[in-house]
Amino acid sequence: MPADVAIGIHDLSVATSHYVLPHQTLAAQNGSAVDKYHRGIGQHSMSVPAIDEDIVTMAAEAAAPIVARHGVERIRTIAFATETSVDQAKAAGIHVHSLLDLPSATRIVELKQACYGGTAALQFAMGLVRRDSSQQVLVIASDVSKYDLDSPGEATQGAAAVAMLVSAEPALVRLEDPSGLFAADVMDFWRPNYRSTALVDGYASIAAYLQAVEGVWKDYTKQGGRALDEFSAFCYHQPFTKMAHKAHRHLLQQCGHDAEEDEVTRAVEHTTAYNAVMGNSYTASMYVGLADLLDNADDLSDQAIGFFSYGAGSVAEFFAGTVVPGYQSHLRRETHRAAISRRRNIDYARYREIHEHSFPVDGGDHPLPRETVGPYRLAGLSGHKRIYTPQ
Ligand code: CAA
Repeated sequence: MPADVAIGIHDLSVATSHYVLPHQTLAAQNGSAVDKYHRGIGQHSMSVPAIDEDIVTMAAEAAAPIVARHGVERIRTIAFATETSVDQAKAAGIHVHSLLDLPSATRIVELKQACYGGTAALQFAMGLVRRDSSQQVLVIASDVSKYDLDSPGEATQGAAAVAMLVSAEPALVRLEDPSGLFAADVMDFWRPNYRSTALVDGYASIAAYLQAVEGVWKDYTKQGGRALDEFSAFCYHQPFTKMAHKAHRHLLQQCGHDAEEDEVTRAVEHTTAYNAVMGNSYTASMYVGLADLLDNADDLSDQAIGFFSYGAGSVAEFFAGTVVPGYQSHLRRETHRAAISRRRNIDYARYREIHEHSFPVDGGDHPLPRETVGPYRLAGLSGHKRIYTPQ
């Protein structure tokens, strides 16, 4: 394949959950000032999956329109990133492959490194397309962020899936070499196999994230990357949207800039609206930010975007992409807005019930009542197997 063939994101689709819990409701319950959430961490509501939704149903909903638009012929790989896996052995992408009726000649794998997994999947996809530019890779990042009730992390929960079609001559964003990389063995956020909620050292996690911003930028510069002032916007991983502001301020300071608030806001402002109402979607979060930017910023044709992907624990990567002229006619703006506005408000009591819910582990037949109005659902459990169906 000629070295100058562009590879990148050809299509991008976001899905989220059936329910939404406004931070107003959480604040009224726990006595916090709602401004702590709205202004302090930059979150207004959180997506909450119904009992019959999970990473698979959201992923299938995100991926279905991509398959409908582009067909299945060139998709030979599904790379599924998540840190809220539904099985220790089987890749969640196999359920999606089945729900979407994809050909049997498909390579399917699940990738994990906290919130960095989506970027690992994207880089894996880039390598496969570089090897054979006639192939396309379906990259999916899908997560449900869950912390203990009444913990500081609770307000940063959320859920979403992003599906991206990676191909040669992409219609949306051409991705570039080099990448800046950083890894450090830290226990800032983790989830042992026996827990459904994450453990986190909140302030240490923010410090580890900022250390990774420094680390990737140093390496990106060393590898011959672009200068800071070449970028029009920055998509950061957003555990809460104010983190993008903190991160960019830190990067500017690292580069010897004054970090004026206006400059920070300009760099990230169009990447935070979807995340502010969906909450943290871990592996999907940075790509939800990209969807928001493409859907809602003024024309970005030929402009460079910086991507900072962070996965606690930790691994981080910084890379650049250039927006392809004509990209606006390939966006899914209306579908994304509809997915957000379709969500139903739940009251605190129901949210708590869902949070505390766990499935029986006896291997019996457990059909689930129909709750979600999304196109796919978890219909039940039987013989320790999860049964997924279209609506
Ligand atoms: N009006 C306006 N602002 C207010 C306010 C009010 N009434 N009350 C508080 N604030 C501000 C505070 O000043 C603070 O702002 P700064 O960060 O700018 O100082 C902000 O609101 C948050 O307040 P606190 O620090 O008091 O909040 P907290 O102690 O309850 O917890 C948190 C904050 C540590 C981020 C917590 O939400 C948490 O643990 N979150 C989960 C972990 C996390 O998201 N870490 C991020 C990096 S790790 C990562 O990126 C991986 C991942 O996805 C998890």
